[in-house]
Amino acid sequence: MFSQLTLKTSYSDEYFIKVGYDIRNEVIGFLAQGFSTSKIIMVIDGNVDNTFGEDWFNDLKKSFKHVVKCVVPSGEKSKSLSSYNQLLDNILSSGIERKTPLLAIGGGVTGDLAGYVAASVLRGIPLIHVPTTLLAMVDSSIGGKTGINHSTGKNLIGAFYQPKAVFSDLKFLETLPEKEWVNGISEILKCGFINDPSIFEELKELTREGDFSPAKEWKHLVEKSAAIKVHIVARDVKESGIREFLNFGHTFAHVLERIGEYTDYSHGEAVYVGMWAAVFASNKLGADIGIANLKDFKSLYDVYKDGFQTNTDELVSLMQKDKKVQNEKVRLVLLKSLGQPYTRTISDKQLLNSSWDYVKEIFG
Ligand SMILES: NC(=O)c1ccc[n+]([C@@H]2O[C@H](COP(=O)([O-])OP(=O)(O)OC[C@H]3O[C@@H](n4cnc5c(N)ncnc54)[C@H](O)[C@@H]3O)[C@@H](O)[C@H]2O)c1
Repeated sequence: MFSQLTLKTSYSDEYFIKVGYDIRNEVIGFLAQGFSTSKIIMVIDGNVDNTFGEDWFNDLKKSFKHVVKCVVPSGEKSKSLSSYNQLLDNILSSGIERKTPLLAIGGGVTGDLAGYVAASVLRGIPLIHVPTTLLAMVDSSIGGKTGINHSTGKNLIGAFYQPKAVFSDLKFLETLPEKEWVNGISEILKCGFINDPSIFEELKELTREGDFSPAKEWKHLVEKSAAIKVHIVARDVKESGIREFLNFGHTFAHVLERIGEYTDYSHGEAVYVGMWAAVFASNKLGADIGIANLKDFKSLYDVYKDGFQTNTDELVSLMQKDKKVQNEKVRLVLLKSLGQPYTRTISDKQLLNSSWDYVKEIFG
């Protein structure tokens, strides 16, 4: 259905997003043709490196005389100033030029970190994303947000920096652990709520058997979800308006992630719970959205229960302290109906309390 997606980020800049299966040759062909340099930087996630690194390195070597390989240890802790520094040391000491491309192969952690390195080293070198998690394919590799965490909070250091291209190779998904699939599924469900409810049926088909294979069959859904992000980002590249819609469920989710100290709840689990709360709040404000589209996927989520023992007032007060909140007024993405999002600043604390009480009843 889609041969290739194009994201136009300004009058003169655009890049494509290609989804396929086993497309390493195509990626390397694109790099060899597009960048007439003898050197390339390959930044790769540690786990991905174990299975796929050698093949990618050897094939890159056929087109580039020098392949500077940097392995990013798996996990959120790599989105740090020290990893950033280490990458800069490796890259700068290898003697790069402004046109040396950086190929980022990995999930959102590798993509965000390598993206920020590409944005800042020599004031910007060409970046090409090869996302390897479902979440990175449908979300983090698209839209140009790059960055690292600071001891005072997540994603506090970064830049908007668009890649030259994104290649999503579904072959990577064949080794993806189940909990990482589920992380990506939450963002796909979100796309169903904020844009295209036909996603729910397709997702139900693909998850029916409990496992998610064959990865090849996810092509259409990955493209469809990526297209929704492309559609939204193209209208709001720097997140001053409709890009907020992508935060559906996330304001609630951030609270859960925080009380679970970023370990008890994965981002995807927290977003899933957050979407229940956001649907509830939308209905309280006049919508009439059934919960079947959430319920149908509940068996995929094994949500940690203890967090729901937290006092509701405390949960609400944590929401008011979210970094995106101004003057303690919580801004929610809500739905008028399926596929029709809007944002609203909530001054009615009772609505937030009852939304949390509702999810406590469902998950507690
Ligand atoms: N830039 C954005 O717009 C944006 C959007 C959403 C999330 N993010 C960021 O993305 C990050 C989360 O990304 P993620 O969920 O991809 O996590 P991740 O990059 O940490 O990857 C998850 C795990 O899967 C492993 N892995 C990756 N690909 C694999 C594969 N093909 N086979 C086996 N294992 C594999 C990794 O080693 C890691 O252990 C967070 O830091 C978040 O802040 C950024």
